[in-house]
Parts: sequence; structure tokens; C-alpha cells
Amino acid sequence: MPTEAKKFYEMSLPERRAEVQQAAALSDAEIAALQPQGGLSLEQANRMIENVAGLYSLPLGIAQHFVVNGVERLVPMVIEEPSVVAAASYMARLVKSGGGFTSSSDEPRMIGQMQLLDLADPAEAAARILAQKDRLLAAAAEIDPLLIRLGGGPRDIVVRELHSAALGTFLVLHLIYDVRDAMGANAVNTALERLTPLVEAISGGRAHLRILSNLADQRLAKAACRIPLAALGFREFSAEQVRDGILEAWAFAEADPYRAATHNKGIMNGIDAVLLATGNDWRAVEAGAHAYAARSGRYTSLSRWWAEANGDLCGELELPMAVGTVGGATRVHPTAQTALKIMGVHNARELAETIAAVGLAQNLAAIRALATEGIQRGHMALHARQVAIAAGAAEDQIEPLAAQLTAEKTVRIDRAQEILAQWKLQAGEDD
Ligand code: MEV
Repeated sequence: MPTEAKKFYEMSLPERRAEVQQAAALSDAEIAALQPQGGLSLEQANRMIENVAGLYSLPLGIAQHFVVNGVERLVPMVIEEPSVVAAASYMARLVKSGGGFTSSSDEPRMIGQMQLLDLADPAEAAARILAQKDRLLAAAAEIDPLLIRLGGGPRDIVVRELHSAALGTFLVLHLIYDVRDAMGANAVNTALERLTPLVEAISGGRAHLRILSNLADQRLAKAACRIPLAALGFREFSAEQVRDGILEAWAFAEADPYRAATHNKGIMNGIDAVLLATGNDWRAVEAGAHAYAARSGRYTSLSRWWAEANGDLCGELELPMAVGTVGGATRVHPTAQTALKIMGVHNARELAETIAAVGLAQNLAAIRALATEGIQRGHMALHARQVAIAAGAAEDQIEPLAAQLTAEKTVRIDRAQEILAQWKLQAGEDD
């Protein structure tokens, strides 16, 4: 377990890697998967998608201090945006001071949809399907014996009547399918296709689309936290000011879809980064998150923040979390395998619960910054480093150049190049 004393941001890259290898008990091959030559190979990539012409790299950072349900975890995050990993770690430490995150998740139940058309009497067909529910569930249970052995399989059949201007009334059958530790798209889609003849025979209709729904609202993950009021104050900002500023920021997102979209984007900054690191389908989770945010008919915040009677700040986040620890890229990608090992999660639900905690931490970081010093201060320091690198700074020039740009409040590449040129001139004069 990492200790408070060992702060990743104070370490060099090799020191950090050594620390991660030791903390997560990684073999040399596993830690090598975090290096370009040890990660996904071209051959593996060529078997993953079509027309492969190369690989594309992104930084993988590791957030610290995440205590989720009493277990401290390192959290690998793949993201191109500066500040996200630092913000997650910082907020996780604040939450740790209040006991850490409490997370929970539903059983891994996905929804598969079958669109049923050409029904003479949709209501009557729905009644016939429901009368044969046990038979349908029994047939569905025959499809994937391995999944049944692992404790998954069909759980329910639901029939919905939809009214469309283009099609009139039609039915949608929902197959509720427990996919255990898989994301589940393949399992669900296969089950739907195999059930088609029986559903058509019972309903007398024609099965059209058969595909899982990304609005996985039977597979929610939830994270909650409490931050002691006293831990909230910093610099010139009092604890009350920070807490109330956060509550006002949340109220804005709760009331306004324009703000809610950005607020939720901040949540997804953290969530997507872990999804990418672990080889999960981030588009699926994004789609589910935003659909869930609009479930009342009005798009709103995915998180909720409030003050407890004793003044502490509390928050919670709930969203669909269709993630897997087996199958797909999670299994094939060596870096995703190492990422899972670094997190120390053993199944899809633990992964989902940790990801929800990261989303909540990221949300807290964003609205705390917006409600106090503004977002640019933290961003600028990191942005300045990128600008310094882009301007051609040598390794030992990056930090001083970034510091000067930040101090001058002119984080621009032309100014960075100007300073570098001045330094070069001075160095020449000194020789
Ligand atoms: C930037 O990537 C994310 C934020 O815009 C989120 C927010 O506004 O809450 C800072």
C-alpha cells in the first residue's frame, strides 16, 4: 500500500514506476506493459480492429489516496488533459480524511432490446409473451452454459409498448441478463439473436433490431463521501466559504442543462480515464451516463452535494456502469491487464465501484476550484510545462521555463521561445 509519505508528484518517473511495481506486486513483464515497447503490439492491434496502420499513445498517470469501502487503491488513468490525475489524487486525500468513499453497485444486469414489429394487436402479443416468460427465460438459460456456471444468465423479461409516429404502436422486449464480470455486449447480443425464433413464434411478430441498451440502468454504480468541514478551508478561503461555494456550484448544474453538461463532463474526465486505462468501452459508459442524466426528461447533474447538520460536506454520484474485467480489450491489451492489477480490483463490480468514486472525486475537484480560485490557476502550471516542452526546452529547462511563464501570466509558445533564446544568448555570453 502506498503511504502518505510517498507522494508520486515528488518522485522522478523511474522512482514512481518502482514504487508502483512494489505496491502492486507487479512482475517485470507487468510493469513493462506501461512502456511503449511492452504495451499493445502492432500484431495484437492488427487483430483488434481493421486496417491497422499503427498505434497511438497517451499518458498513463496513477492517482493515489483512493480509499473505497475501506480499501486503499492506486488508480491508473489514461488521459491527455493536464490536472485531472493531480485533482483526483488531491480530492481522494481530502475524502480519505473523512473515512474514504462508500461505494456500491447493482448486480451486473444488462438490458438487451428486441424490437417487435408487424403485430396485429400489440397489447395482446405483449400479454402472450409475458404468459410465456418462464419458457423464454428457460430457453435463454440454455444459451451460455459457462455464464450460468459463473452465476450469471437471464433474470427477467420485460415488454414495453412504444408509440411512434412513423411505425404506430410496436413492442420492445427487454431481456435482463446478468453478465457477471463481462461488459456484456457480446453475451447479450448473442442471447437476443438466439431467442428470436421463439419470441417471433410466441408473439406472431417480426423481430427487427436486437441489441443491448447502453442505458444500463439495472447496473448502476454509486459512490458517496463525507468531507469534514474543517478539512475544506485553504489559503484565503474559509471552510464554510468552500463548502457553500460547492453547494452553489452544484445547484447551478442541477438547474441548468448548459451547466450540467460541463459539470458531468468533469465527472467523465475521471471516469473515462479509468475506462481507457482498463480497456473498457468508454463510449458505452458515456452514452449511459448522459441518458441517465436525462432520465427525468430534463438533463441534470449526475452528482448531488449537500451539507450535513454538523456542517460537513457530503456528495454522491450514481450512474450506469457497464464495465468488465474479462473479455474484449481488457483481456487482450497488456497495459489494461497491468492497470487492473495496479487497482487491485477482482471483479467488474469492484471496478465499477472504484470508477464511481473517481468520478465523484473529479467532480469535487472541478467545482471546488471553480467555486474558489477558478480553474485556470491549477491548469496553467501544467499547461506551462507543455508549452515549455513544445517550445523546445531541454529537460533541465522545462521546470524553470514553466515557472517563469506562470509568474509572468503569459503561457504562450512565442514567449517561451523568446525566453529560451534569451537564455541561449546569456549562456553564450557566459562561455
Ligand atoms: C474541464 O475538463 C472540466 C470542467 O469544465 C468541469 C466543470 O466545469 O465542472 C472543469
